[in-house]
Amino acid sequence: MPSTLSLTPRPYRSLLSVPAINPRALDKVPQLACDGVIFDLEDSVFPERKDEAREALRERLPALARDGRTRIIRINDLSSPFAAADLDLVLAVRPDAVLLPKVERPQDILFVQERLDTAGCPPEVAIWAMMETARGILEAGAIAATGDRAGRLQAFVIGLNDLRKESRVLPRPGRAFLVPWLMQVVLAARAHGLCVIDSVFNDFRDEDGFEAECRQGREMGFDGKMLIHPVQIDAANRAFAPSAEEIADAKAIAAAFARQEAEDRNVITLDGRMIERLHLEEAERLLALVQVLENRKTMP
Ligand code: COA
Ligand code: MG
Repeated sequence: MPSTLSLTPRPYRSLLSVPAINPRALDKVPQLACDGVIFDLEDSVFPERKDEAREALRERLPALARDGRTRIIRINDLSSPFAAADLDLVLAVRPDAVLLPKVERPQDILFVQERLDTAGCPPEVAIWAMMETARGILEAGAIAATGDRAGRLQAFVIGLNDLRKESRVLPRPGRAFLVPWLMQVVLAARAHGLCVIDSVFNDFRDEDGFEAECRQGREMGFDGKMLIHPVQIDAANRAFAPSAEEIADAKAIAAAFARQEAEDRNVITLDGRMIERLHLEEAERLLALVQVLENRKTMP
């Protein structure tokens, strides 16, 4: 039976936000072990310095592009006076994805998609959406649906700083009152085959708190976490990578289904547990991700 696994998965365990305005931070990018970089033109850049930030990316992004990591540009929101020039930059440098902040309606995605399509931007340039407003989260399902068929929408990224400000939910370890909204976003993303990335954790000196939130994010089904500081990369890479037990289990499931007597069966027994073919698909996805991470280790 064919597997549904068709594309090589890309790891998004650790996506570091780097203010485009900060040359020292940009200098560090090639040495960092994060799976992707979010070059930020939005919240971390003062309005008077947006032009300078764009110019820095126009000059430097091509040279920062050669190591196979995902390059994402976060632009300013579409209602701002900066978005048009930000989109021009995206068209010029063609990152792997453009991240739209404060997405509230399917039309926000469709507007950017139309802009990229009419400019002849290759379909590989994806759209990612920040889910960080009350309206955005209420509309998450309809927004996610714009990724169906040949839509460019590929991932949601949670933004808790904006969402806490708007909703007035207080920041607390465990995020108890936010979990229902976070899970709503995870569900909407998965319903339409999107990736979904957990929010930044502001207190970058609090290692234990950060690790706990990474573990929680992993259990909630997120693919990885948006980061603000290089000290957060290793813990995120560990937390969102498949564990040794998960890898061993996936290998055992793949081996069990590869046996001849399992050929025409959808359900088999492994070590006293019921295993279905859907577990095989999940095991194959996990092993493909492990392979990508292994290949990365051997890259120069
Ligand atoms: N990317 C790359 N390098 C970074 C970095 C980042 N996000 N954050 C810090 N660094 C570098 C610093 O440049 C510094 O190197 P240097 O001494 O050679 O300049 C080193 O790591 C240590 O930094 P540190 O002194 O611990 O932190 P800081 O006070 O300089 O910066 C922040 C703290 C929070 C301002 C900074 O981490 C930052 O700007 N983070 C991203 C913010 C952001 O993108 N916000 C929008 C999304 S929520
Ligand atoms: Mg924000």
